[in-house]
Amino acid sequence: MSIQTIAQPCCPLCGGEGRVLHDHLRDRLYAAPGEWTLKRCTNPTCGLAWLDPAPAEISIGQLYESYFTHEGDADAPAWESRSPLFRAWVALGGIYRAVIRTMPIGQWRERAERMFLPADAQGKLLDVGCGDGAWLVRAKAAGWQVMGQETDAKAADYARRVRGVDVRVGKLHDLRLEADSFDAVTLQFASRHLEIIRAFKEIHRVLKPGGIFCHDDMLRPASRIVEVPYLAYLRFSVWFTAKLFGSSAESKMCVGYFADAIRHFYKPRELDELLTALGFAGIENRDFLTGVMSYHIARKPTV
Ligand SMILES: C[S@@+](CC[C@H](N)C(=O)[O-])C[C@H]1O[C@@H](n2cnc3c(N)ncnc32)[C@H](O)[C@@H]1O
Ligand SMILES: [Zn+2]
Repeated sequence: MSIQTIAQPCCPLCGGEGRVLHDHLRDRLYAAPGEWTLKRCTNPTCGLAWLDPAPAEISIGQLYESYFTHEGDADAPAWESRSPLFRAWVALGGIYRAVIRTMPIGQWRERAERMFLPADAQGKLLDVGCGDGAWLVRAKAAGWQVMGQETDAKAADYARRVRGVDVRVGKLHDLRLEADSFDAVTLQFASRHLEIIRAFKEIHRVLKPGGIFCHDDMLRPASRIVEVPYLAYLRFSVWFTAKLFGSSAESKMCVGYFADAIRHFYKPRELDELLTALGFAGIENRDFLTGVMSYHIARKPTV
C-alpha cells in the first residue's frame, strides 16, 4: 500500500510561507518509505519546520513499519544461549546500575524513569503516543490504571497483545475521551509528531483539575555553549555512520537533518511558555545539559 499524503504548503503554526530546507529526504536508518521535503517557516518569529506534503494519519503506521515500536524483543535469543562474554557484560551493567542508584545522578535517573511523577501517586494515567506500551507496563506496575493512545495500529496491537495494556487508536482529539477524567497524562518522544498545540489543549481538557501532565523529549538546548558542540556532534555522528555504512551520496547530503530537527524545536523555556499560555500551572522543568533531554511537569489548575 502506498503512503498517502496531505499537502501542507503553509506553516501549521502561524500560517506563514514555507521555504524548502531539505528536499529528496529518505529514511536510511529505518527505511521508512517515501521521499520527503522539509520546509521552514519564513516568519522570523516562528521558524517552524514541517513536511510538505505530510504523511496522512492513516499512513503513519507504514512509516513505523521497521521501528522498535513494532518489534519488541520476542525474537531475542534465550539467555542460556548467550555467550559468557555477553552475560558478563549484562552482569556488569547490573553492578553499575546498583552503584549509580546510590548517587545523586542515579536518583535523578530513577525519578526521570517514572517521569517525575510522585512515587506514591495513583489513579488514571494516559500515555499519548505510547508506541509499544513499554512505559505503560512500568506505570501499571507502579500502581496506575493505565491507558495508551496511538495513531499507529500495529504498535497499539503489539502493546495490547504482548504487554496487555489498553491502547486506543486514533488522534487524541478524535477519541472523545471524557473531560476531567485522568489524574496524569504523559507524553514522551512523540510531541514532534503531533499538532502540538491542539494535543496540549486536549491533554488539558481530559486532565482532572489538579492532574499532572509530564512531557519529555530532546529539546533545543538553551545554552549556545551546549547547542553548538551538541549539534556539531549530531552532524558528525550521522556523517560518520553514513560513511561507515557506505550510504549513498544523496543520503550524505542529509547529514544535517537530525541536527536541524532539534534546532527548529522548542527550547525548555519556550515549552514552559506554551504550557502556561494553554492554561497549565505549577510548571517544573528538569533539564539535562540545558535541554538535550528535558522534562516538564505541569498541572491543570484546580479552579
Ligand atoms: C519516537 S516514538 C515514541 C514512542 C513512546 N512514547 C516511547 O517513548 O517509547 C513516537 C510515537 O508517536 C506516535 N505518533 C505519531 N503521530 C501520532 C499522533 N498524531 N498521535 C499519537 N501518537 C502519534 C508514533 O506512532 C510513535 O509510536
Ligand atoms: Zn510559522
